[in-house]
Amino acid sequence: MMTPEKSLPESTLLQAAQSRMPVVLQDFLRQQNPSASRLSEAMLYAVTNGGKRVRPALAYGAAQALGAKAEVAEPAALAVELIHCYSLVHDDLPCMDDDDLRRGKPTTHKAFDEATALLAGDTLQALAFLSLHESTLDASRIRQQVAVLSRAAVDMAVGQALDIEAEGKQLDLVALEHVHRHKTGALIRASVAMGAIAAGATAAQLAALDVYADKLGLAFQVHDDVLDVIGDTAKIGKRAGSDIAREKSTYPALLGLEAAQGLAVKLHDEAIAALEPLGAAADPLRELADFLVDRDH
Ligand code: IPE
Ligand code: IPE
Ligand code: MG
Ligand code: MG
Ligand code: MG
Repeated sequence: MMTPEKSLPESTLLQAAQSRMPVVLQDFLRQQNPSASRLSEAMLYAVTNGGKRVRPALAYGAAQALGAKAEVAEPAALAVELIHCYSLVHDDLPCMDDDDLRRGKPTTHKAFDEATALLAGDTLQALAFLSLHESTLDASRIRQQVAVLSRAAVDMAVGQALDIEAEGKQLDLVALEHVHRHKTGALIRASVAMGAIAAGATAAQLAALDVYADKLGLAFQVHDDVLDVIGDTAKIGKRAGSDIAREKSTYPALLGLEAAQGLAVKLHDEAIAALEPLGAAADPLRELADFLVDRDH
């Protein structure tokens, strides 16, 4: 795990997610898939190679913001992180972004091989839904979570397809926002919604949290684009300049670096404003948002 040197200390939610997730992920994978095959090794590699655990932190934070214990969101945290890790394994494949470094280590297809990486991603996706099924939550809440996560996984893939199609072109602002809301925003929104559902959210609470997650999800990908330009490979754990090399449609490419950074801050402020009705219980979500638009990794 890389440690930030200049920016804010990692939020308490992130610290909790970073200490819980490796254990929860490993236990679940070993239990569901105990064979010592190359595929199992690749799956373990893809989920325990570091990572900020932003999405689990959001699931925990949403539950806490509604007065529940973070533990009720643990199955949701596990499921979203499994989908996220699958998305990263596939995102790095030669047929996608063709990257060789992820979380400071060789990407899964480099550490293993392409076929194994492809199958590891497929399997992690299926296991995400199994992890929800194994949850002890009330069945109607599990059913809602399955619907939210399935929709988000579909939207993520739609966004990834649009991102690849946009290589070598510069999309306009409306089209770029559409890509980013799908490829990244959808899973961030699902993380918050699933944590809130675990805590028995009302429709009004879900709506307020969804505005927070929507704004934050877009801000998160804008900042990810910014880090590709100004980030340090050793800190971000992936190759800086990868988007430029692949002629990706990004916010800094469209708006310029400063305007992209300004947009991330504006979206952050809108995300924070949406938490108003939730009072002090949402402070950990506010702290997490502060960190996410100021991070250097
Ligand atoms: C990277 O996500 C991919 C995007 C959707 C921007 P993260 O920045 O959350 O990656 P990890 O999990 O910390 O490695
Ligand atoms: C990734 O966007 C979105 C995913 C669904 C994984 P990027 O391609 O910008 O993510 P990084 O920069 O490789 O982590
Ligand atoms: Mg990509
Ligand atoms: Mg990528
Ligand atoms: Mg990126």
